[in-house]
Amino acid sequence: MKRNNCKLMYHNPVLLNRSIELLNIDPNGVYIDVTFGGGGHSRAILEKLRNGRLIAFDQDPDALNNVPEDEKFTLVPHNFRYLKNFLRLHNAAPADGILADLGVSSHQFDVPDRGFSTRFDAQLDMRMNPSAGNSAEDILNTYSAEELQNIFTLYGELRSSYSISHAIVEARAKKPIRTTGELIDIIKPILPERKINKLSAMVFQALRIEVNEELEVLKEMLQQAAEVLKPGGRLVVISYHSLEDRLVKNFFRAGNFEGKIEKDFYGNVLSPLKPLSGKAIVPDENEIAENSRARSAKMRTAEKR
Ligand SMILES: C[S@@+](CC[C@H](N)C(=O)[O-])C[C@H]1O[C@@H](n2cnc3c(N)ncnc32)[C@H](O)[C@@H]1O
Repeated sequence: MKRNNCKLMYHNPVLLNRSIELLNIDPNGVYIDVTFGGGGHSRAILEKLRNGRLIAFDQDPDALNNVPEDEKFTLVPHNFRYLKNFLRLHNAAPADGILADLGVSSHQFDVPDRGFSTRFDAQLDMRMNPSAGNSAEDILNTYSAEELQNIFTLYGELRSSYSISHAIVEARAKKPIRTTGELIDIIKPILPERKINKLSAMVFQALRIEVNEELEVLKEMLQQAAEVLKPGGRLVVISYHSLEDRLVKNFFRAGNFEGKIEKDFYGNVLSPLKPLSGKAIVPDENEIAENSRARSAKMRTAEKR
């Protein structure tokens, strides 16, 4: 009982029913959830399986506490950028369907010492896998002003990215920046008073995307997903940022991230996937009212040709 309560608090799954419908589950098929988190989507998939299998990925060791006791289920505690290799290892390719619910979980935001949230003063970490790669602290204290500016412009879409990056470089020359509170104190004087919360959250989001290489790993996963799906198998992706959604949209339409459509001699599009619709599905008002994280969600589905 206690474990179930825990799961409910860990993360409230977004677009749950619609995403499961779109996976079009064969009870005897092989399914992959590349972003297990609290396991909300995974449990809904498992409910539909009879002799099928579900392989789930999560690079955050905290997600291991949510693993369901079910012999149809396997958790791969690694980055989904290694999708193809692990599916081979678990004899799970080709797959009938793949689900990706990108970004971070509510749990990751809510645990103060992970450093993802502007709400708490904590070490600037922001790694989904706390034992791999550069932390936000490493990045803030070593990247050049130009590199920092690029991150804030590209991933945070911040107009004041020049001033923010220079304020960071000036501050760290006096003393390394270690905590989320210190970072907020540095950027606060630059941001318009009435937008401080929103813009600080965008600075944090930009850093998080860089720390976890979110766009690079998404590209790698999409390419491998297209390879490991069976013909007719479905890929459902829920994204929370316009840059992610653009990559997904372009890859589904064109098979490349620029969205450049190429055709063969007969006029067939040379892309491994075929989008189910041109428009992304978004959560309705009720879901957004109940779960603020659903606000920016966009879901797209494609089928393997
Ligand atoms: C939005 S949550 C998923 C929530 C899940 N659908 C549920 O119902 O609870 C995203 C999860 O994916 C994990 N994740 C994000 N990027 C990942 C990656 N590249 N490799 C493995 N796991 C990743 C995060 O650690 C997080 O737990």
